[in-house]
Amino acid sequence: MSASQHPTQLQGVSLESIAQEFGTPVYVYDGEKIVNQIKSLQSVFASVPLKIKYATKALSNINILKLVKRAGEGVDAVSIEEVMICMQAGFTASEIMYTPSGVNFREVKKAVELGVMINLDSIPLLEEFGTAYGNTKPACIRINPHIMAGGNAKISVGHIQSKFGISIQQLPEILEVVEKFNLKIKGLHIHTGSDILDAEVFLKGGNVLFEAAMNFPDLTFLDFGGGFKVAYKSGDPATDIVEVGTKVSAAFNEFCEQYGRKLELWLEPGKFLVSESGYLIVESNVVKRTPQITFVGVDSGLNHLIRPMMYEAFHDVYNLSNPEGDLMPYNVVGYICETDTLAKDRMLATVSQGDLLVFKNAGAYGFSMSSNYNSRLRPAEVLVWKGKAQLIRKQEVFEDLIKNQVILDI
Ligand code: LLP
Repeated sequence: MSASQHPTQLQGVSLESIAQEFGTPVYVYDGEKIVNQIKSLQSVFASVPLKIKYATKALSNINILKLVKRAGEGVDAVSIEEVMICMQAGFTASEIMYTPSGVNFREVKKAVELGVMINLDSIPLLEEFGTAYGNTKPACIRINPHIMAGGNAKISVGHIQSKFGISIQQLPEILEVVEKFNLKIKGLHIHTGSDILDAEVFLKGGNVLFEAAMNFPDLTFLDFGGGFKVAYKSGDPATDIVEVGTKVSAAFNEFCEQYGRKLELWLEPGKFLVSESGYLIVESNVVKRTPQITFVGVDSGLNHLIRPMMYEAFHDVYNLSNPEGDLMPYNVVGYICETDTLAKDRMLATVSQGDLLVFKNAGAYGFSMSSNYNSRLRPAEVLVWKGKAQLIRKQEVFEDLIKNQVILDI
């Protein structure tokens, strides 16, 4: 890959100056990219009443959420804490969909008290919800469509052995409970996985929703979930969203005719909105040559970016400090005391100690999956917006690590 494909600046602000100003490691997000991704979805789904419910879990900084809000869209939250973060960002309860998995009913009650619609994901929860609220609170039902899809087993969640949703084969039981409590079901939802390349998967999921929907007279929306695949390197295929938009919209409009009413079509993209907007800038601490491999040890690790170790995910990385240097093979590794390979066997422009390296596609499930493992501090986050780089989360300090520990007199 040529150096020119690797950005050295975002909206005219150099990545090097960001590293200098805010230190490393640092997560940097291009706000314009996020807004453009939203716009591109809005345009390919222009023939249907589209509502985007951004998957907060991908990147939950309040400023990122505010960009989504500003673009006129909503959010999907999977915990009561995410619901509260979304409210902090200015979303009203009606703009938030709450999609928990296997939570205690106390949490559901809290969400209902906040006025948020819940996505019910088990028969026992449907029963509990019916007992508590009858038809006084609208709800959505998460269907497990039994579709195997997604980039790898860990992120495939719509198949028959997955814990998520209520099996489509249990539709008669769902209908029994709905009838028993006269539940007001406003929406049906599916989410089959992440990194789904094939447009047909979304159509297949749609067909499951369309068929089930005919049993629910009060619907106002169908929620297709998230899962669009983005490119992680040059030449890597991405979901053809024009194809998805065209095919799914056509099928949806046809379904609405049959249903007898125009419904809203909801999508819950996470990666598609924020993955490519994000960069993790790190510094090379050491270049270590061994008989077989040259390692670059950086001031970060799986505590900041767990995707390579957790999913064997590929994150492109480049040398920001020496872009024209001769290409050499390296393993880029973290400072964590276990194997934490961030990038394996990569050709990088010759790396020296002190060089800045940049990991791409770090917007989705980067910071949001970070931890304090090895008692390391989490990095700062910076948003580039309207041509300006601004701090949106301070780097942690030592005090943050111990502030919740209760020190006994021993
Ligand atoms: N909606 C629901 C109900 C979800 O569970 C998810 C993601 C999404 C939407 C958004 O999916 P996306 O568009 O981002 O693919 N940590 C993994 C991904 C886990 C996704 C979990 N659910 C990774 O880093 O690849």
